[in-house]
Amino acid sequence: MELLRKLTAATGISGREEDVRALIIKEMKPLVDDVKTDVMGNVIGYRKGKKDTRLVMAGHMDEIGLIINHIDDKGFLRVLPVGGIDPRTLMAQRVVVHGKKELDGVIGTKPIHILSEEEKKKALKVEDYFIDLGLPGEEVKKLVSVGDTVTWNREFTEIGDCYTSKAFDDRIGVYVILEALKKLKGKELPVEVYAVATVQEEVGVRGATTTAIGLEPDIGIAVDITLANDIPGPAEHQQISRLGEGAAIKIMDGHSISNPKLVKHLAKIAEKKKIKYQYEILPRGGTDAGALQRSTKGAAVTTISIPTRYAHSPVETIHKDDVKASIDLLVAFILDAGKENYTL
Ligand code: CO
Ligand code: ZN
Repeated sequence: MELLRKLTAATGISGREEDVRALIIKEMKPLVDDVKTDVMGNVIGYRKGKKDTRLVMAGHMDEIGLIINHIDDKGFLRVLPVGGIDPRTLMAQRVVVHGKKELDGVIGTKPIHILSEEEKKKALKVEDYFIDLGLPGEEVKKLVSVGDTVTWNREFTEIGDCYTSKAFDDRIGVYVILEALKKLKGKELPVEVYAVATVQEEVGVRGATTTAIGLEPDIGIAVDITLANDIPGPAEHQQISRLGEGAAIKIMDGHSISNPKLVKHLAKIAEKKKIKYQYEILPRGGTDAGALQRSTKGAAVTTISIPTRYAHSPVETIHKDDVKASIDLLVAFILDAGKENYTL
């Protein structure tokens, strides 16, 4: 799990992925025939295959976070969200501010003891929080600038049968792709395989959009998280996916309707190889699959999703068995690719 720990510890909010990108390039290089980056910062690995059918698998390297838009004279930092930040997740957190050096900070807001009855009823917005670095104003202004980024200060750890960390969305996708490449090493592939770690997914699948235009995939598989609402509160029909019940094959989300023949093919392989799987429909939001299908000629796409509780929080939680199932399913699919025609 050392690699997953490293991937989650690396930082990189959308558009500022340099830290995590360097790690991914290093890890991917020995596993592919060629690896490149593009002007957006996407990392594109390539492995030769027998047929010229192009399979692109994509996981996004960016994580949600905050960007500093104001520094006051006392040194308190004001922030804006980058990606879908739920303001409730900001309360009482430790963060890392990426200034001239990495600075530990805490997130503060007006204490409940002095809130009016009216104020107590209102939901807090991101603008109601600030970051305190514990330094005087002049010192902060020397070290931090407007445009610097902020990430959660939260470590990867194991709880029960699960892992919990910041940034599983979507470092777990990148991890699954890298582990799949490891298992495919030395094996002849039936199709050309591009392994892509994309940028800027959390702000609207921007890295995958340009990747799709450049690579023109025939088949696109995004590897990303989906919601596992198998927790107290949501009704059974709102669970979307369940922890420990295997890799989730996406049928639909807000950005893509998976190619039904491709979905069937994946399920057939999972059954043959006795890999645990479930189906998943996410009413809102999307993955890189939404961009991969919109290349010039269109592509058959779906997403292999890793069920995740508390998505977009610093305590995202995933099940060990689902990680293994996702890797196994991706590997089995790649080795079986190129035989089926997904034209509808
Ligand atoms: Co996300
Ligand atoms: Zn994601």
